[in-house]
Amino acid sequence: MGQNWGHRQDERLLKSLANFTGLVTRREGRKFLQLNQEFDAQAVKTSQASGNDCSSLYIHIPFCRTLCPFCCFNRYLLSEDKARQYFQNLRKEVAFYSQRGFRFSNFYFGGGTPTVAIDELISFINFLKENFEVKQISLETTHREINRQNIDLLKAAGINRLSIGVQSFDNNILKTMGRATETGEEAREKLSMAQGHFDTVNADFIFNFPGQSIEQFADDIATFKALGIDQATFYPLMPSPHKMSALERRFQWVDTSREKDFYDVILSELYQTDYRVSTVWCFSRGDRIIDEYIIDDDDYIGVGAGSVSFLKGAFYVNTFSLEKYDQIISSNRLPIVRWKNLSEREHLRYYLLTKLFGTTLDREKFYRRFNDDVNKKLRFELLFFRLFGLIRDNGKISLTRKGMYLTSVMMKEFFAALNGLREYCIENKI
Ligand SMILES: C[S@@+](CC[C@H](N)C(=O)[O-])C[C@H]1O[C@@H](n2cnc3c(N)ncnc32)[C@H](O)[C@@H]1O
Ligand code: SF4
Repeated sequence: MGQNWGHRQDERLLKSLANFTGLVTRREGRKFLQLNQEFDAQAVKTSQASGNDCSSLYIHIPFCRTLCPFCCFNRYLLSEDKARQYFQNLRKEVAFYSQRGFRFSNFYFGGGTPTVAIDELISFINFLKENFEVKQISLETTHREINRQNIDLLKAAGINRLSIGVQSFDNNILKTMGRATETGEEAREKLSMAQGHFDTVNADFIFNFPGQSIEQFADDIATFKALGIDQATFYPLMPSPHKMSALERRFQWVDTSREKDFYDVILSELYQTDYRVSTVWCFSRGDRIIDEYIIDDDDYIGVGAGSVSFLKGAFYVNTFSLEKYDQIISSNRLPIVRWKNLSEREHLRYYLLTKLFGTTLDREKFYRRFNDDVNKKLRFELLFFRLFGLIRDNGKISLTRKGMYLTSVMMKEFFAALNGLREYCIENKI
C-alpha cells in the first residue's frame, strides 16, 4: 500500500516534470524557428576546414505512392518526370557543397519514400560513391516497397541500414491511420524477408494514435520481438497544427495524457533486455546503426526540398516547393530560403537536447565544441536534471530510466515545433 502510494506520487511528479520541460522546449523550439529570410550563400559557414568537419549528409526524397493523412514531412505524389528531374537537381546541390570543401562519408536517405524511383536512387548512390568515400548509408522505405529484387538492388548498392515504416501490425489501426491498403501480415512477411540482408533492419512504429489501445501497441512490440528484427523506432504521434485539427475532426481528441502509458510499455518490454537503448525512441540488438544524424554528428547538411542543415551553430532551411527547388538549383544557387544564427544559449540547449535524446553527453566532446566545461555552461539545466534523478554521472552524463520519458516529451515538442515550420512552408509554397 505504502509502496504503491509512493509509486503513484513518483509517477505524478514525473508527468508534471515532463509537462514543464515539454512547455519550455516548445517555447524554445518556436524561438529557434524565428528565421531570417534574406539569404546570402556566402553566409553559410562553409570553409574548407568546416566542410571537413561535417561528415553527415541527409538526402530528402519527397515522393510517395500514396499520402498518409497524419504525415508532416515534405512529400508529394510520385510523378516519374518530376522524380527524374529532382535526382538531377540533387546531384547539383551535392556538388555545390563538394565545391565548398565538404567531404561527406555518412549518408541518410529520408522522405517521402526514397525507393519509389529505385533506378534513379541507385544511380544517385553511384554518383555519391564516385565523389565521396562512402562509409555508411541509411535508407527509409515502406514495407510495400520490399521485394526480393529491391532487396538485392539495395544490398548491392551498399545500403547498411534499411528502415521500414510499419506503424502498426494491427489492421484496424492501419485503417484508422489511412493506410487501409496495408496489412499487418504483409508487414511481418516483408520485415522477415529483409532481416539479415543488411547490417541493420529497423521497423518504425507510431504510438498514441487516436483509437489505438495500449494492448494493441503491446501486441505490436510482442510481434516485433517475436520476428527478431534488429531494431525498432517508436514515434509518439507528432501531428503539425493543421494535421492535428484534421485528425481530431476525423477521429477524436489526440490525448497526450496517455503518452506515458504507451512509453511505459516500450520501457517494460525493451529497456535493459537483449535490446539496447540507441535513442529514447530507438532500441537495437547489438551495436546497430541508428538513423539520427542529429545525434551522431554535431553538424549535418541536408539536401533536397524541405531539408534542414545545422552547421557551426547556424540552422538553414531549404525550400519546400519542388518548383522553387528546380528554379533555384537551375540558377546555380543553394536552395536555402530561411536561416538563423543561434545564440550561444540556444545552441547549448539544442546540443543538450540532442545528446540526451541519444542518452549520453560526452564531457570531452562538449569541451571541444564549446571550449568550456559542460557543468559551467549548462549549470542550471544539469542541476535540474540531477535534482530529480533524470541523469547520472559516470564519466559521461547519461540518462536514467526516469529521464527517458522526460527526454521523449522534450524531443516530441521540439519536432512538433519543426512540424509547424514544415506545415507553414508547405502551405505557403516557401
Ligand atoms: C517520413 S516516414 C518515411 C517512411 C515511409 N515513407 C513510410 O511511411 O513507411 C518515417 C517515419 O516517420 C514516422 N512518422 C511520419 N509522420 C509522423 C507523425 N505525424 N508523427 C509521428 N511519426 C510520424 C513514421 O513512423 C514513418 O515510418
Ligand atoms: S508516412 Fe511515409 S508513405 Fe506516408 S506520406 Fe509520410 S513519407 Fe509518405
